Amino acid sequence: MKIIVLNGSPKGDISVTMQYVAYIEKKFPGNRYETLNVAHEVKKLEKDAAAFDAVIEKVRSADLVLWAFPLYVMLVPAQYKRFIELVFERGARETFAGKYAAVLTTSIHYADMIAHDYLRAICDDLGMKYIGAYSADMHDLLVPGERERLTKFAALTFAGVERNVPVQRGTAPLIPPTLAYVPGNGQTTVEPGAKKVVILTDDDGTSANLTAMIARLSSAFSGKAEVINLHDIDIRGPCLGCCSCAYDNTCVYTDGFVDFYKNRLGAADILVFAGAIRDRYLSSTWKCFFDRSFFKGHTPGLGEKQVGFAIAGPLSQVACLKEALTMWADSGRCNAHFVTDEAATSAELDALLDSLAGRLVAGAEAGYTPPHLFYAVGGHKIFRDSIYGGMRFVFQADYRYYKKHNLFDFPQGDTKTRVTNAVMMLLTKSKSVRQKVYGDLKHHMIEPFAPVFSGD
Ligand SMILES: Cc1cc2nc3c(=O)[nH]c(=O)nc-3n(C[C@H](O)[C@H](O)[C@H](O)COP(=O)(O)O)c2cc1C
Repeated sequence: MKIIVLNGSPKGDISVTMQYVAYIEKKFPGNRYETLNVAHEVKKLEKDAAAFDAVIEKVRSADLVLWAFPLYVMLVPAQYKRFIELVFERGARETFAGKYAAVLTTSIHYADMIAHDYLRAICDDLGMKYIGAYSADMHDLLVPGERERLTKFAALTFAGVERNVPVQRGTAPLIPPTLAYVPGNGQTTVEPGAKKVVILTDDDGTSANLTAMIARLSSAFSGKAEVINLHDIDIRGPCLGCCSCAYDNTCVYTDGFVDFYKNRLGAADILVFAGAIRDRYLSSTWKCFFDRSFFKGHTPGLGEKQVGFAIAGPLSQVACLKEALTMWADSGRCNAHFVTDEAATSAELDALLDSLAGRLVAGAEAGYTPPHLFYAVGGHKIFRDSIYGGMRFVFQADYRYYKKHNLFDFPQGDTKTRVTNAVMMLLTKSKSVRQKVYGDLKHHMIEPFAPVFSGD
């Protein structure tokens, strides 16, 4: 069997993910493997059409395409995203169509399901036969049981390809919104006062709806929003995954990104991200923005803000993008609202955008921040344990931040709960106590709230 590995690590061969591929190669020497460093080489593939065509020719020879990549900020790295864009832009879809595809990721399991959903949808859009995905923790290969698990996955995948098993699409083809948005004349505006509003976009003029949505929003804030285009920021390149920043948050790039992120975005009370859907996410320019924000490690990013997502494209059909943006907002405890151009009329979209501005200003004035969702609650525990444990000496800046902000909130430190548990577990060994406790658990569960309702 010929297996083409599309390596999504910006680190090329010196990649954790590629260790997992090498292990599969070692266990199944009967296959022919070829790894293409499409993320590491994406600049060349972008500029040199012959180099890109050579990659596509190799894909043509594959019985199975293995999309192997590290998780970068809830998805694929920006460089891999760009490669995927090139596949669509350059009409290479037909070469992928009908081929089996499998996904192999390494990560610390933070949002791995979003990245898998994204790549599954990409395989569907390419007409590939998606046969399965494997999410390895980056250190799994050191554990014998996990090596066995990976071996079984590979064996089952290869057997499925050999038997030509039928597979089903996991996502429906996208139906783009049909509205050609033309903002109307009347407008309800809002005065942001002392609240600083930034609209961040990658608008390059290719989506007329996006351009019009930004114009409408900008004037909805009484013209007081600062519109910043990512193309105007001095960003020399995407995150390289070197993790040099982990010591003290200093990025190896000395371009304008950190200053822009900390000072221009950091100063905003209200932040609107305005972008157009490109395949099953925003553009690779947006992905570059998110990846470069990793210089802040696993700390809460831009902090508590009112956030609007103004999206041109069929967001309601792109669950992985909606989830990634929701998770991003949730992890920073941002109050997020979404508006897309999936409206029936321009007047309807006008009202949605005007109202978005109003809701963002109202949220900022009230100082409202929402409670966390599962994403931030679960994510915190993953980061907390990793930074306290195995990642500590590399991610020293995170460790200092977590210590300073009391984020090492392990339940072991909660003495009152520990004592209560110990006492109650002892007492409930008695049948009569057990009957009292479990016999009326519904009331016991609401008893602690009583003081909230006593007095004023
Ligand atoms: C910029 C950056 C972003 C990352 N984002 C995530 C993430 O969202 N979720 C996660 O579980 N791991 C994340 N990681 C960890 C990597 O996925 C993990 O270290 C991976 O094994 C690296 O593989 P590689 O050496 O093949 O590039 C991130 C690492 C970097 C450098």
